[in-house]
Amino acid sequence: MAIYMLQSSLNDTVNLKTNQFFDDVINGLRSSPKRLNSKYFYDANGDKLFQELMNCEEYYPTNCELEIFSTKTAEICKAIMADGSPFDLIELGAGDAMKSSYLLKHLLEQKADFTYMPIDISGNVISYLNVTLPVTLPGIKIHGLNGEYFNMLKQAAVASDRRKVILFLGSNIGNMPVPDAINFCKELRNHLNEDDMVLIGIDLKKNPATILAAYNDKGGITKRFNLNLLERINRELGGDFDLTKFEHYPTYDPESGACKSYLVSQEDQIVTIGNKHIHFQKDEYIFMEISQKFTVLQTGQMAEKAGFKPVELFFDSKNWFLDAIWAAE
Ligand code: AVI
Repeated sequence: MAIYMLQSSLNDTVNLKTNQFFDDVINGLRSSPKRLNSKYFYDANGDKLFQELMNCEEYYPTNCELEIFSTKTAEICKAIMADGSPFDLIELGAGDAMKSSYLLKHLLEQKADFTYMPIDISGNVISYLNVTLPVTLPGIKIHGLNGEYFNMLKQAAVASDRRKVILFLGSNIGNMPVPDAINFCKELRNHLNEDDMVLIGIDLKKNPATILAAYNDKGGITKRFNLNLLERINRELGGDFDLTKFEHYPTYDPESGACKSYLVSQEDQIVTIGNKHIHFQKDEYIFMEISQKFTVLQTGQMAEKAGFKPVELFFDSKNWFLDAIWAAE
């Protein structure tokens, strides 16, 4: 009986998530212009493709940020240790915690008094980190939180009143249009106290050809990464997208810094998803993702608008990527 109830409540959760996915997809494809939310890129297959992307020659942001974390570890740790008071190091979207592990190792060597709190929407990620990090980093205090960022930040505040240092890496902030990014930073600020800190990774404007190539790799991984969402819709929502009838179209506008990806319908067609029918005209596009690029000045303005003060900036050797430390004002 108990097992049946657990199974049935798990089914309810899965159904709720599927319904949300279905509603978002149908609403997005009924909008004008058509759009899909890039947060749905990351099913198991999307995760694998993103890993492949991070290893491909043209996709530079991961290597740039890794260079910062591996060469400036001591300076970054010094800044976040601040006056030496105990703190919670909270990572939004921790993934495999590869970059943050550089910091965690150094902080442990410095005998800093901190608890690492990775937050991730994937329960698998949190279980993996809870089990593996104490083995690879003996002595680490870890308190994984599985759920949405802001709900979990509330839980973290209930769990402890120590000062907070938030890690938001990988230029994930760029996957929001600028006004949404500012609102996100404002909401983050609302969950923090004065002098709490954020370490945020931001991809910078650079040669437009370098940026466009990163989102149009020769091996076609970015194309498969985008098409994978149509495949996911087919599999999970009973869709019948024919992937050969959509072309990947990436763009970069050096003025606005917006790098955008689209899938363009190659012909007039009707796609069925569950019991809904979506009409596509030849050359009609679906807006798939934004990866916004910033100037250093714009990152400072974003910090200020959200109630933060930039306190230290760390760049890679090419000045392509920035990891900024912001303090809550
Ligand atoms: C996760 N995010 C920061 C990546 C980016 O660069 O916008 C996602 C990505 N999309 C295509 N390539 C990588």
